Amino acid sequence: MNKDFLLFHKPFISEDEINEIVDTVKSGWLSMGPKTIRFEEEFNKYIGSNQSIAVNSWTAAGHLTLEAFGINRGDEVIVPTMTFPATAEIVCYIGARPVLVDVSEDTLNISVKEIEKAITPRTKAIIPVHYGGQPCDMDEILELARRYNLRVMEDAAHSLPAIYKGRKVGTISEVTCFSFYATKTLSTGEGGMICTNNEYIADRCYIMRLHGINRDAWKRYSEAGAWYYEVVAPGYKYNFTDLQASLGLPQLKKVDYMWECRKKIAKMYIEALKENEYIELHTVKADRQSSWHLFPIRLNLEKLTINRSQMIEELRKLNIGVGVHFMPIHQHLYYKQQFNLSDSDYPVASKMFPRLISLPIYPGMNENHVYKVIQVLSDLLTKYKK
Ligand SMILES: Cc1ncc(COP(=O)(O)O)c(C=O)c1O
Repeated sequence: MNKDFLLFHKPFISEDEINEIVDTVKSGWLSMGPKTIRFEEEFNKYIGSNQSIAVNSWTAAGHLTLEAFGINRGDEVIVPTMTFPATAEIVCYIGARPVLVDVSEDTLNISVKEIEKAITPRTKAIIPVHYGGQPCDMDEILELARRYNLRVMEDAAHSLPAIYKGRKVGTISEVTCFSFYATKTLSTGEGGMICTNNEYIADRCYIMRLHGINRDAWKRYSEAGAWYYEVVAPGYKYNFTDLQASLGLPQLKKVDYMWECRKKIAKMYIEALKENEYIELHTVKADRQSSWHLFPIRLNLEKLTINRSQMIEELRKLNIGVGVHFMPIHQHLYYKQQFNLSDSDYPVASKMFPRLISLPIYPGMNENHVYKVIQVLSDLLTKYKK
C-alpha cells in the first residue's frame, strides 16, 4: 500500500481495544458473555433507550425486528431506494415485499410524500434510513404511521450518534437498529444493536437471536445459571460475542470524541466547498444534527467534462480514496427484475446516483489530510470544467 494514499476509512483503534481483546482471550470466554451484557448496558445508557439487544450485524437486527413485528408473506414494507441492499433484503427474508420509494433531493432521505403515495392496505411498516447520518423527517413519518397504523423501524446504521429535534436517534421510534460494521462510526468489525421501548419486541429479539432458546448461553453454562433450556421458536444464530464487545466497550467511551472529529472535518469541507459551482453539498436541516458518518458531494455533471467514475479514478491516482453511497436498490438486478422497476419510478435517486461521491471523513484524519482532499478535488474540478 502506497503510504501517501489516504484511505476512504480507517477504524479508530487504540491500545484500549487491543488490551480489552487480550483480556477477553485470556479469560477464555470468547462468545456472548459478561462483556456483551456490559456493552448492551452501556450502549443503552448512552442512547437513553429502554432496552438494547446486541446482535452480529444490522442485517440481523433488522431481520429480528421485522420477525418480532409479526410481518409475514404478502405484507408490504416501505423502504427508500437510496440505501444499502440490507434494508430491502431483510423484508425479503420474511417473505414480505419491499416497496421502494424515492428520496428528497436536498438530503437523500426518504420522501414523506412518496411514503404516503406507496401505502396500501397490505403495508405494515416503514423503514426510514438516516442517509449519511442525518435523521429523516421523523415527526412526519411517525404521524403517517399513526394515521395508517404502521410500525416504524429506523435504519440508524449511519447515525450513531445523531440528534433530531433535541432527541437522540435511538429514542424516537418503537425500534431503531444500529450497525457496528468495520466502516461505521463505532466499529466492532461486524455487529449491530436493536434499541426498543417495547417489552415484547425486546423479549422476542433476545430469544430469536440465539436459536429461539429462552435463556442466553452464558447463563446456561456459567455457575449462575442452570443447564436446562427450552427452544420456543426456530430462532437464528445472530448473537454478539465478547470479542466484539472488547472492541465496542472502548469505542463507546470515545464515541463523542470521534463525533467531534467528524464534525470538525465536515465544517472544513463545507467552508471550503460550499461556493464551488462544480459540485453541490447536501442540505443539513437546522433542527437536526448529523453523525457525519458520510460526507457526500454531488458532481455538477452539466458543468464538467468527466463523469463520476473518471473523477473517482483521478482522485485515486492522486492518492485520495473515496466511496459511493449508494447505487439505488431499484437499479440492482434482482429488485429491478423481480418488481419490474425502472429509473422513471425514482427520478430523484436516479438523477443523483451518477453524481454522488463520498469524501473521507474519520477521526484518524488530521487537518493536512482534509486540506489535501479539498485541494486535490478543487484542482480536478477546475481542470475538468467545461
Ligand atoms: C444504511 C445501511 N443499512 C444497513 C446496513 C447493513 O449493516 P450490517 O453490515 O451491519 O448488516 C448498512 C451497511 O453498510 C447500511 O449502510
